[in-house]
Amino acid sequence: MKTIKIVNTASQLPEKIVSNDDLSKIMDTSDEWISSRTGIKNRHIAVEETTASLAAGVIKKLLLQSQVDPAEIGFIIVATMSPDSTAPAAAAKAEQLAGLNGIAAFDLNAACSGFAFAFTTASGLVNSLDCKYGIVIGSETLSKLVDWQDRRTAVLFGDGAGGVLVQAVDEDERLLASDLKTLAGDADYLTAGFLPRQGWGQKKLGSPYFQMDGHAVYSFATRQVSRSISDAFAKAKLKITDADWFLLHQANQRIIDKVADLLGVSQKFFLSSLKDYGNTSAASIPTLLDLSVKKGLVKRGQLIVFSGFGAGLSVGTVIYRY
Ligand code: UT7
Repeated sequence: MKTIKIVNTASQLPEKIVSNDDLSKIMDTSDEWISSRTGIKNRHIAVEETTASLAAGVIKKLLLQSQVDPAEIGFIIVATMSPDSTAPAAAAKAEQLAGLNGIAAFDLNAACSGFAFAFTTASGLVNSLDCKYGIVIGSETLSKLVDWQDRRTAVLFGDGAGGVLVQAVDEDERLLASDLKTLAGDADYLTAGFLPRQGWGQKKLGSPYFQMDGHAVYSFATRQVSRSISDAFAKAKLKITDADWFLLHQANQRIIDKVADLLGVSQKFFLSSLKDYGNTSAASIPTLLDLSVKKGLVKRGQLIVFSGFGAGLSVGTVIYRY
């Protein structure tokens, strides 16, 4: 059985930056409320960009940096809950925009846990497709799922894309464990993107915009992320203190700090990009990874932990030797 090695990382953010002060001009909120409750100061918002064009930007950068021949790439997975269309998939459109053709490209929707789910899927795919390389991306334009009149959700989200080029390798010490769960009994605590239904007297199923019970999701996230990380470490037969860095889904700094406390790990090992990016769902972990690699924080040989959580309600942890 082969496993996957991250060859390189890349990210692509929309040009427009919207600050908390910008938001306070269009809704009843303040920089003080948003930054003290969430840790967010700014977020990138797509104007011209789309989920597919951001993902295509990531693909182009990954290929340029690595000089890998596209003919050797077996698949492109785009983890997203905000594709531009149901068909074609964002991954298919991104492949087209990146000037590629003939690579298996598909979307995977596990909401904010998407990158952990897609990365785990990729480790199986390199075996079943018997390919040398694959691309795993998280790309989102959540701004189109936001009700800009609703201050309870509008201040939280941002747009962006990040991803990794992975290589199939015969090494035991790469993807050390994955823990993926969907607690579907709590699915209704966080919803978005219901499509209109018409004809045949069909009933509306829900809102196109984010609807969230913030307290329920907060308590789910702190309990289930710490449990998922503990379960993944038990599977890997490693100690939590063996980890060099924790890269959690970036939803709220208070959630990250609380998970660190519940695990008994110093908060300084939990990386954060919330201040500048906000919550970018499936894109938050790969963009944070790219940022942290480029800053020289995440280095080869280190043990890193990805842990996503969100709609589903889903939670997914990956323990990986970088
Ligand atoms: O990736 C998806 C995963 N999602 C999450 O992880 C979200 C988890 N939940 C959270 O992060 C937090 O629950 C929130 C950040 C969403 C909310 O923080 P909170 O500390 O739970 O605030 P709250 O909902 O208890 O609201 C406190 C007050 C309320 O006013 P009253 O009723 O006390 O008068 C809200 O109406 O703050 C008010 N409020 C705001 N005020 C200014 C809510 N949103 C805002 C706002 N600006 N943007």
